[in-house]
Amino acid sequence: MRPRRIKNQDEIINESSYIIEVSDKYKGKLHELFGNNNPIHLEIGVGKGDFIIGMAKKYPNINFIGIEVQDSVIVRAVKKLNQEELTNVKLMNVDAKKLNDIVDHEIEVLYLNFSDPWPKKRHAKRRLTSEEFLKIYDNIFIKDAHIIQKTDNIGLFAYSIEELVKHGYIFNKVSLDLANEDIDNVLTEYEQKFMKKGERINYLDAVKFKDK
Ligand SMILES: C[S@@+](CC[C@H](N)C(=O)[O-])C[C@H]1O[C@@H](n2cnc3c(N)ncnc32)[C@H](O)[C@@H]1O
Repeated sequence: MRPRRIKNQDEIINESSYIIEVSDKYKGKLHELFGNNNPIHLEIGVGKGDFIIGMAKKYPNINFIGIEVQDSVIVRAVKKLNQEELTNVKLMNVDAKKLNDIVDHEIEVLYLNFSDPWPKKRHAKRRLTSEEFLKIYDNIFIKDAHIIQKTDNIGLFAYSIEELVKHGYIFNKVSLDLANEDIDNVLTEYEQKFMKKGERINYLDAVKFKDK
């Protein structure tokens, strides 16, 4: 669902130092955005930003880039970030379909948190773990591909496992109840809502080795 527009939304987004303009300017040199050579992790669909902000605070030696397609959503993450002084996080208001125009073999880990499930078969290509997207991701990773997914939606979870296997991924971890695992976890907004309702969270950590 598209949230209502915030007053001055465009100014808030365009004037934030946390926002990177959508262009190929930093393609292959994303490190320049951070001024160091620390590893770069990417989140697709940052929503209101709780996860990426929590991760950036917890792991100051990792750089985080978050992308979000909806401007009325990313503006909420920008507003939260503007309250912080974090040097290791940047956001981009763009669709993941365009990732290959922006990123070139630079990412160590990709996070897909509570991605839209697109339950209808005719919309399957829009799922962020469809073959179309997995092919895009092949060109973003610095070496081995590494995807971490969390979702409440068991249909999307089963689909993701199937697609990842077809695409050559193997699993470090698969869990149907993240809260009962000994896994370092930063909560997202959706995750907080589902956990309050007592729902279980599905989790996978998948890798595809480059030399295979
Ligand atoms: C269900 S929300 C989850 C938000 C957040 N990750 C969380 O867990 O609370 C999914 C978010 O992904 C964004 N999104 C969906 N498809 C996207 C795409 N192709 N590129 C970038 N963002 C996308 C949506 O706009 C939405 O904000």
